[in-house]
This record gives sequence, C-alpha cells and structure tokens, in this order.
Amino acid sequence: MRAERSADQPRVAGFRFGNLVVDPPILLAPMEDVTNGPFRLLCKRIGRVGMVFTEFVSAMALHYGAAKSVRKMLVASGERPIAVQIFGSDPQTMAEAARKAEELGADAVDINMGCWVPKVCRTGSGAALLKDPDRAVEIVRAVVRAVRVPVSVKVRAGFEHGRFAAPDLARAFQDEGVAMLTLHARFATQGFDGEADWNLIERLRAVLRIPLVGNGDVRSGEDAIRMFSRTGCDGVMVGRAAIANPWALARIVAAVCGENPPPMPTLEERVRIALLHARSLIRFEAGLQWEEDGPLPDDPGAELRAVRHLRGQLPLYIKGAPGAAAVRNLLSQCDSYAELEAVLRQFLGSAAFADLPSR
Ligand SMILES: Cc1cc2nc3c(=O)[nH]c(=O)nc-3n(C[C@H](O)[C@H](O)[C@H](O)COP(=O)(O)O)c2cc1C
Repeated sequence: MRAERSADQPRVAGFRFGNLVVDPPILLAPMEDVTNGPFRLLCKRIGRVGMVFTEFVSAMALHYGAAKSVRKMLVASGERPIAVQIFGSDPQTMAEAARKAEELGADAVDINMGCWVPKVCRTGSGAALLKDPDRAVEIVRAVVRAVRVPVSVKVRAGFEHGRFAAPDLARAFQDEGVAMLTLHARFATQGFDGEADWNLIERLRAVLRIPLVGNGDVRSGEDAIRMFSRTGCDGVMVGRAAIANPWALARIVAAVCGENPPPMPTLEERVRIALLHARSLIRFEAGLQWEEDGPLPDDPGAELRAVRHLRGQLPLYIKGAPGAAAVRNLLSQCDSYAELEAVLRQFLGSAAFADLPSR
C-alpha cells in the first residue's frame, strides 16, 4: 500500500487550457469502452477531477454516420469541462469530426496520437502519426481551423522505443494553435510494458509554452505529487487506476488540493455505485438522459448491451473483497439488471440494499 500524502502540502494550482480552467489539475484519461458518459459522471462527482475525456471516436465512422460514434460524443452538463477525443488519418474527416464534437457541446477537442493498437495504427491513425509528422501537422491544422473550442493532442513519446519524437512534433502543434498537450510517457512499441519514463515529461515541459499534462502509472496521491514535482507538468492524467474506482481519483485530488485523504469506500458503497453505474448505462444506451437516476426503460436491447458491456468492469468494484472471485463468474453470465442486482444482493446480504431504488 502506498502512503497517501496528507494535508500539510500546498495546493497544486489549476491551469488554463484555452478558455477553460482545469482545476484541480487532475484529468480523467480517455479510455475506450470505459470512459463513457455514465462513468465520466461518476469520476466527476465522486472523483472530483478537473476535466474528463471521452473514449476515442473514429472520425471515419462518424463520417459514415455511425450512430454509436455519435453517442460516444454526447455530453452531460455535470461533467464539464469535457474534451471529445477523435482519431483518424485524414485531415478533412478529422475536421468534420471536430465540428460535430463542437456542435454536440464538447468544451474541447482532443486528437489521439497515442493509440498503439495495430488495428488503429494500420490505418495511419493514432500513434502511427508520430512516424508521419507532415500528416500529423496537417491534421492538427485542419482541426484547429475547424472549431472555436480549444484543441489538444495526446501523444506517446514516439513510435519506436527510444526515438523521442514528441518534442519536435509538440512544438509544431503549438505553432499551429494547439492549446494543451498530454504525454503518455511510453513509446508506442512498448504498449503498456515497462514503466512510464517521467523524465520524458520533464524534457518535453522544458521546450513547450502551452500546458503539458503528464500521464503514465499514476495510481495514488503520492504518485501525482511526485509527477508534478519531478516533471514540472501542469496537470496529471489518470487512466487505469480509475477503472471501477472513482474513489482513487478522489484520493489523488485530495492530495493535490492539500486535503486529508477521504475515507476508503465501504463494500456497500462500492456495490451501490456499481449498480448506479449499470442503471445509468442502461438509460444511456436507451437514449434517455443519464445524468440523474430514474426508472429503467423497458428496452431489453439497451439493457443487454449495457449489462454485457459492464461484465468485465463490475467485478472490479469489489475486487479484493472476500468472495469476489466467485461473484465475478456469476456477473459474467448476467444478461439483465435484475440478475446483476440479485448477484450483488446475495453477495452483500439483502439488508444492505434496503435503500436501492426499485424498478
Ligand atoms: C482500457 C483502456 C482504453 C484506452 N483507450 C484510450 C483511448 O481511447 N484514447 C487514448 O488516448 N488513450 C487510451 N488509453 C490510454 C490511456 O488514456 C492512458 O494513456 C494510459 O492508460 C496510461 O495511463 P495510466 O497509467 O494512468 O493508465 C486506454 C487505456 C486503457 C487501459
């Protein structure tokens, strides 16, 4: 267990990103299949992060009118400021996607140049752009010109291990009007191997005027404070530590705000939020507002999509608790909210659920 910092440290200041203020300077990372609307709201409300990002949205899929891609861009008022992240390799399609994001209410547009997955890189998108600086700059130029909201880019350090391409690229992006940059301090060929090299964040900070957000392997308040002090970055972005754990974000935020860490959530609280997450995703999938809890729709398709989507994530809410492994198996077979709720009710003992809203 890492030590958490307590309230004796000064507050780390927020920063400006274009017309936006990111305060506290902790940002929820874009994560495919994770940072959908319902989860982002939990990270904002429980985790108190200063900014959230959508999962990446394919500019090409949007161009062809994919309804699923449009849904990924929907924004709730309680999660602002929010950046919609887009990926693609064609400047005009990317500009079109950026305009769509702005039209749907995004406060900022983020361009993905960090995804290392072959399926994405094969199309010349994501981290493949780090090997094609001319195209990368063309995309940035087209997107910056297309929208009034601020534009940011999320990069890896470079494509091949050891070739630190980010400084030259980032300076060129800055000259094109990009207002913030995020560095995931690994090379694309590393995937998630090894440790993020925070020295690269420090080196990039030294050559940029615009705010730089550091990213990679921050799991606790202590980690975040170390990243700020070692690298001089303006913000810290957190990804994996937040999955099924918005309370981890709350502890990180408390640390950078100079507050005492909030208490760890009880098992009941974890389960309550896991179920709220599921209910909210069902409403989201059914096209209803998802910001406030309410009755579940009679839409078996939406319910099945949401429940299946969460099969892998819900068990993480109770990871480590006695009996959690068996519950994981049961949750992986659920096809309805009623089944999820029954499994979790049984896990905790029904008394703990007296306050759950009924359908
Ligand atoms: C499940 C998953 C999905 C991800 N999807 C995206 C994505 O859509 N766009 C993106 O820029 N990065 C994506 N990432 C990378 C994260 O944003 C982040 O850069 C990375 O996880 C390192 O941060 P961490 O150590 O705090 O997790 C994803 C990571 C994970 C684990």
